[in-house]
Amino acid sequence: MCGIVGYIGKNDNTLEFLINGLKSLEYRGYDSAGIAYMTDKINILKKQGKLENLDKCVNYKQKSNLGIGHTRWATHGAPSENNAHPHMQGKIALVHNGIIENYEKLKQKLIKDGYKFYSETDTEIATALIDKMYNQEKDILKALSKCQDIFEGSYAMGIICTDDPNHLYCLKKDSPLIIAKSTDGYFIASDVPAILKYTNKYYLIENNEIGKISKDNLTIYNHDLKEVKKELQTFDLDLENAMKNGYDHFMLKEINEQPFVIEDTIAPCIKDGKQSLRKEIPDLSKYEQIHIVACGSAYHTGLVGKALIEEFGEIPVSVEIASEYRYKKVFYNAKTLVIFISQSGETADTLACLRKVKEQGIDSLAIINVVGSSIAREADKTLYIKAGCEIAVATTKAYLAQSTLLSLIALNIAINKKKLDNVLVSKIFDEMKKLPSLIKDLINQDYKKIAKKIYKKEHIFFIGRGIDEAIAKEGALKLKEISYIHCESYAAGELKHGSISLIEKDTPVIAIVTDEKLASKTISNIKEVKARGAKVILIISENLNTESDYYDEKIVIPSVNPFTQPLLSIIPLQVIAYEVALLRGCDIDKPRNLAKSVTVE
Ligand code: F6R
Repeated sequence: MCGIVGYIGKNDNTLEFLINGLKSLEYRGYDSAGIAYMTDKINILKKQGKLENLDKCVNYKQKSNLGIGHTRWATHGAPSENNAHPHMQGKIALVHNGIIENYEKLKQKLIKDGYKFYSETDTEIATALIDKMYNQEKDILKALSKCQDIFEGSYAMGIICTDDPNHLYCLKKDSPLIIAKSTDGYFIASDVPAILKYTNKYYLIENNEIGKISKDNLTIYNHDLKEVKKELQTFDLDLENAMKNGYDHFMLKEINEQPFVIEDTIAPCIKDGKQSLRKEIPDLSKYEQIHIVACGSAYHTGLVGKALIEEFGEIPVSVEIASEYRYKKVFYNAKTLVIFISQSGETADTLACLRKVKEQGIDSLAIINVVGSSIAREADKTLYIKAGCEIAVATTKAYLAQSTLLSLIALNIAINKKKLDNVLVSKIFDEMKKLPSLIKDLINQDYKKIAKKIYKKEHIFFIGRGIDEAIAKEGALKLKEISYIHCESYAAGELKHGSISLIEKDTPVIAIVTDEKLASKTISNIKEVKARGAKVILIISENLNTESDYYDEKIVIPSVNPFTQPLLSIIPLQVIAYEVALLRGCDIDKPRNLAKSVTVE
């Protein structure tokens, strides 16, 4: 899940291009970074830690027309300068995103061939193999094609060679890579933000393809080294959209974008004045069972989807963690649909599950943010959320847009199965249309007082029942990942089976109560923790709100229909997480040990 960039062109500001590109890819990994650039030789500069450490050491007066760069999220070997990319072996310098799974075996053979290794990385082994093949073939393209037969795993690579100062090479399998074209040259990058400052024109490179790029020409080859014609694509998002736009953090910017995102997601789907949704939302009522497969927050949106599809669409849904689903025995029938949810569309485990499902001939539907990503391309059908570029590692707007689409899918099934009366359907459509302004009002409430009360705590609990438990799970993940406070979420009724022993005087418990059918039960559970000294922060919908003594702080959210309610309940939890992390001085957009796009198992 690292970020790679490269440039070749008439402009000799390569160093600036590489560092700027890496800056916009830092969300993919940030434990070390490096560049390699061509002058009369290949020069390599690497630094441990964030990109600013590298930036400080770059001599921008140095002119070069060709270079590659990398920002790393450690997989093999600790974050260190030695393990940072680019790696150089013989005449080859390489940046790599992905994992070469058979690197140990390759390493032993290469050591016998006389190669010495200085890092713990799989990438250095790949570099040596390319060098070895190049020495045998005397042709880089042939060497790369041979290596593709040998490499097992995933890779997007940028390669330069001492003997060939006029070309940049790249190859790809199962890791994202684009080649972009500007007026004075070509860029390679893991992701579009890296190139947006210079161009919005790019080519998508597919698995097992190899790019050979000169300053004014690009040729893409397939594995047999036959030329492949590609269409130039245009990315229609401007750079400003990928920048902070005046907010202190991307996370805050993205939280504040949610009203617009939800408007963009909902508007094309709702037919004005009609009791149905437009064809943008597929009708899944023919399926007998649905599996939802995802990781992290995307998994939590799946739980929201399950609650709504089961309750109103009456189709059994199982929500599965991709890293588990990937290896377990799964039971399908001819009427099973598997839904894959992913912001990046590149999450390795989710992608592997999609391939597993496709091998069985089972229908697949993907809910994705990043256009043209691997999952989006491989699924039978893909629905794009309209969240735009999400840079903060902790997802907010993509989570909400995914939940919104799932809510519309559940609504569509319920309408098609005639499970809802017309009056209720009209009410739901009206409230869906009001969602953007309701979300905006909720974002703009003041959560600082609550944040001040909890930011020094070591443990915080989140509880809820039914769909509120799904919200509790996402609230706990949001807070723990950016504030590093230990947060746990529980089904409210489960606490007394063990975990309630953790509650002591002043332990914060955040309780979510929006489901009318379950409210009295959850409130009983809240009273149980209150009786044991907990400080209760209650998030409750307006219709259930009464003055009482079982909470310490209260956030009242508008009460709307069940399809819209979970899209509101999460908002205070996102902002509280942000405010708490701010008070604790955390690196909000780049929490430790994490990366935005998890393209390794
Ligand atoms: C948490 C978060 C992660 C992602 C997870 C899946 O804030 O962002 O838990 O939800 O890594 O990523 P995608 O959605 O790209 O598959």
